[in-house]
Amino acid sequence: MKRVTLPGGASMPALGLGTWRLGETQAARRAEVAALRTAIGLGYRLFDTAEMYGEGGAESVLGEALRAAFAAGDVTRDEIFVVSKVYPHNASRQGTIAACDRSRARLGLDRLDLYLLHWPGSHPLAGTVDAFEALCAQGCIAHWGVSNFDLDAMRALQRADRAARCATNQVWYSASQRGVEFELLPWLRARGMPLMAYSPIDQAALAASDALEAIGRRIGATAAQVALAWVLRGEGVVAIPKAVRTAHLRDNLAAAELKLDATALAAIDAAFAPPRRAAPLAMI
Ligand SMILES: NC(=O)c1ccc[n+]([C@@H]2O[C@H](COP(=O)([O-])OP(=O)(O)OC[C@H]3O[C@@H](n4cnc5c(N)ncnc54)[C@H](OP(=O)(O)O)[C@@H]3O)[C@@H](O)[C@H]2O)c1
Repeated sequence: MKRVTLPGGASMPALGLGTWRLGETQAARRAEVAALRTAIGLGYRLFDTAEMYGEGGAESVLGEALRAAFAAGDVTRDEIFVVSKVYPHNASRQGTIAACDRSRARLGLDRLDLYLLHWPGSHPLAGTVDAFEALCAQGCIAHWGVSNFDLDAMRALQRADRAARCATNQVWYSASQRGVEFELLPWLRARGMPLMAYSPIDQAALAASDALEAIGRRIGATAAQVALAWVLRGEGVVAIPKAVRTAHLRDNLAAAELKLDATALAAIDAAFAPPRRAAPLAMI
């Protein structure tokens, strides 16, 4: 699995697993823990979650799966990279620290590998960043970053002299949502800051794309695999598709090794045109 380097030199796998919609009902919990154990068994090492998902439920399900996997010796803590996010309404200086404590408890982890502000909110960013830095100093998180920040928000972070230690910006990036290619992705790349691509298969919609299916037929891949390989084609991009079905988990991991040829890339450009001008950041 290709790895993507963070500012400062640490790295994370280029493909991980999303957890939105997990932990929402008790009835699904067993199957969800089993799906996460399967994912770990297949080789997933990067997990993306948030206090928002199932109001802590997704973190709790992931925590249960990780504890079981550690106990069974399937994987060690240091092999796993866990990302979580603070709600903007919790992101005051004190609130961020308290939210992180709750997330770590639900995950059963002393340390989160990466902790993100989920989207820009009304608490002053300086307080959130101070809390992130304090959490780093205490060893509660290894890195911090942001999510759903457009270029103006990234520039504001930089002007406040706060961007230097920001590890990533997690945004919607998929074949149909290419707006970030115009300015934001080059800006991040120039600073060695990875972009984490959420909803890389448009919440399953791209798995049914005729254009991607046609490309997949020619190269022996599914439409979803083409969508993922496309997101991962360049440097400095991490994709975090969510899946619970074993076939999806397998296909998505394999897509990280799939290389698209020039014909495939041209067909994708024809179906989903690259951006020609700046546009508001897409958000789910
Ligand atoms: N920072 C943010 O604001 C933000 C926003 C949205 C998402 N995220 C993160 O990004 C993750 C991924 O985004 P997402 O969950 O919105 O959407 P997604 O990953 O684009 O799509 C997930 C959906 O696609 C299906 N799927 C997965 N692999 C497939 C395959 N190979 N073939 C066909 N269908 C497949 C899944 O089905 P099954 O589950 O049934 O297998 C699920 O219904 C989230 O889970 C979350 O961790 C972050």
